Amino acid sequence: LSKPLLITGCAELLTLRGPAPRRGRALSDPGVIGDAALLVSEGRIASVGRRRDIERHPLARKAGKLDLGGSVVLPGFVDSHTHLVFAATRADEHEHRISGATYEEIAHAGGGILSSVRALRRASFEALEARALIALRRFAEHGTTTIEAKSGYGLDAASELKTLRLHRTLAAEQPINIVSTFLGAHVVPPEYRKRRNGADAYIDFLSRKLLPRVVKEGLAEFCDVFCDRGAFTVPQTRKLLTAARACGLGLRMHAEQLARTGAAQLAVELHAASADHLEQINAADIRAIAKSDTVATLLPGCGMHLGAHHPAPARRLIEAGAIVALATDYNPGTCPTLSMPMILSLACAQLRMTPAEAIAAATINAAYSLRRHDRIGSLEVGKYADLAAFNVADYREIPYYFGVNLCVLTMKRGRVIYSRGVGGRG
Ligand code: NIG
Ligand code: FE
Repeated sequence: LSKPLLITGCAELLTLRGPAPRRGRALSDPGVIGDAALLVSEGRIASVGRRRDIERHPLARKAGKLDLGGSVVLPGFVDSHTHLVFAATRADEHEHRISGATYEEIAHAGGGILSSVRALRRASFEALEARALIALRRFAEHGTTTIEAKSGYGLDAASELKTLRLHRTLAAEQPINIVSTFLGAHVVPPEYRKRRNGADAYIDFLSRKLLPRVVKEGLAEFCDVFCDRGAFTVPQTRKLLTAARACGLGLRMHAEQLARTGAAQLAVELHAASADHLEQINAADIRAIAKSDTVATLLPGCGMHLGAHHPAPARRLIEAGAIVALATDYNPGTCPTLSMPMILSLACAQLRMTPAEAIAAATINAAYSLRRHDRIGSLEVGKYADLAAFNVADYREIPYYFGVNLCVLTMKRGRVIYSRGVGGRG
C-alpha cells in the first residue's frame, strides 16, 4: 500500500462537484474552494475541502506532503476528441491554405486525410509509437490526464489494426488514459475510389469484416464516422454505426463541420455518446441535441487553424440545455494543438463561453461523453486523483492568458506525471 498524500497550497480548487453531466446554468458553477486541500489515498481522492478541515483528517498526519505553493487546481482535462496517431505533419497544406486553397480543395486533389493515410501506411509501429509518446508527454504538460484517440489514417485492415493496437500499447506504457475509437470510416480509401459505389462497398467491408475483428480483439470502445460532405452520407453512417452498436460499441460522430447533412440528428437518433464539430447546425438540430443525452463536443481549434469564420453556436446550445463539451481535435490537418488551455481561450474568445462554462465542458462533460464521469472529470471523494495545477491566482486567468503554458503540475491517479517549478510564481 502506498502512503497517503496531503496536497495543500491550492489558492483555488475547482471541484466541479455535483450532478453530471451539466447543462445550461449548471455549467457556470465550478464549485470553487479557496485555500483548499486534498487527501489522496491509493490513487483516489479520500477527502477534499478547506485546508484546515482536511489537515484534521485521521489520514493526514501520516501522509506525505505536497505543497502547490498557491496554485489554481482543477480536474485533469479530459480531451474527448483526438487523432493521436499519425505519421507526419501537414505544414505544407497549411501554407497552401494560407495562399488561398481550401481544406476541401486540398482533400479533393488527393491531399488532406489521404496524405496522412499514405504516410501512416508506410510508417512502422515503432515510428508511430515514438511520435505519439512525445505527444502524450505534451498532453500531460498541458494538464490533460485522459484522452480519446481515433484511428482513421489507415483505412485498410492492417493499418487500422496497427493504429488501434498502438493505442493499447501506448495506454500500457505511459500514464495518460487512452480511450480508443475506431474511425475506419474517416474517408473512402483510395482503393475504393476507383470502384462503382466504392463508398458503399467500403462501409460494407467495415461493417462485416473489420468491425467484428476490432471488437473481437477488444481494440475499441467507440466507433466514429466522419459524416459530412466529401466523406460519408447519413445512410452510410447509419449502417455502420448500427452495426457497431450491435457489437456493443458506443457511438461518436464527426457531424456538420463542412456542410449541414443531417448528421447531428442521426447522432441523436442513434443515441450517440457525442456529436462533434457542429459548426453548420440549424435551430432544429439545436433543439434535438438539447433534448438528448448526446454530447455536443465543440472543437474551436479547427476553426482557428482553418481560418474559418463560422463557429459552432455554443451559446444557443447552452441556452437550449445541450450537454456541451470541448476538445482539441488534435490532428495534423485541421488542429495541430494538444493544449486544452488554448482550447479554453478559443472557447471564450470565439464561442463566447465563460471561463467557468469552458472548464466544465473540458472536464466533467467531456468525461460524461467518454462514459467515465463516475471516475474522472471532477475532484470528489472516491474519484481518481487526476488533477492539474496552474501558476495563476484566479481560475479565469487560465483562458485569459493564451499561447503560454501555465500548467505547473499534472497528477494522474495520485502520481505526479509532470511538474515544473511548483510554487515559484513570478
Ligand atoms: O476532425 N474532419 C475530419 N477529421 C479531422 C480532420 C482530419 C484531417 O484533416 O486529417 C477533423 O477535423
Ligand atoms: Fe476529428
